[in-house]
Amino acid sequence: MARSILVLNGPNLNLLGTREPDVYGATTLAEIIAGLRTRASEHGVELRDIQSNHEGELVDALHDARDWADGVVFNPGAYTHTSVALRDAISACGLPVVETHLSNVHAREEFRHTSMLSAVCLGVVGGFGRHSYSLALDGLLDHLGA
Ligand code: DQA
Repeated sequence: MARSILVLNGPNLNLLGTREPDVYGATTLAEIIAGLRTRASEHGVELRDIQSNHEGELVDALHDARDWADGVVFNPGAYTHTSVALRDAISACGLPVVETHLSNVHAREEFRHTSMLSAVCLGVVGGFGRHSYSLALDGLLDHLGA
């Protein structure tokens, strides 16, 4: 059966490419998604992507993913550090979710050292810039046997 993966991005990630490039790199979100789509298609996997700056829309996307996705690569942005609602949505959807960060959050401000989400995720990848996403996708594909 063909597999499908959701790549979900939270607040401010639409600005990648121009947002603090010294921290997040110069690659745009569209370029990152294009690379992931190519990689996924090599495995016969469909990839859909959603970006939202709104917590409730991210919750809705996780709920909807129950109906079609086999797993999620998720960069929750700043909601990583604050959102019980997203933690509950990850638990509720029952899908393997890979928490993904461009930066190494543990090498940054103390408030970024805590994740509300890691404990309910399959795994966590961070610190490798745009490559964090491809590492997360590879881990998820391997987990799914795709
Ligand atoms: C981020 C890290 C978060 O702390 C920050 O709020 C982001 C991006 C990352 O990809 O490194 O928006 O998730």
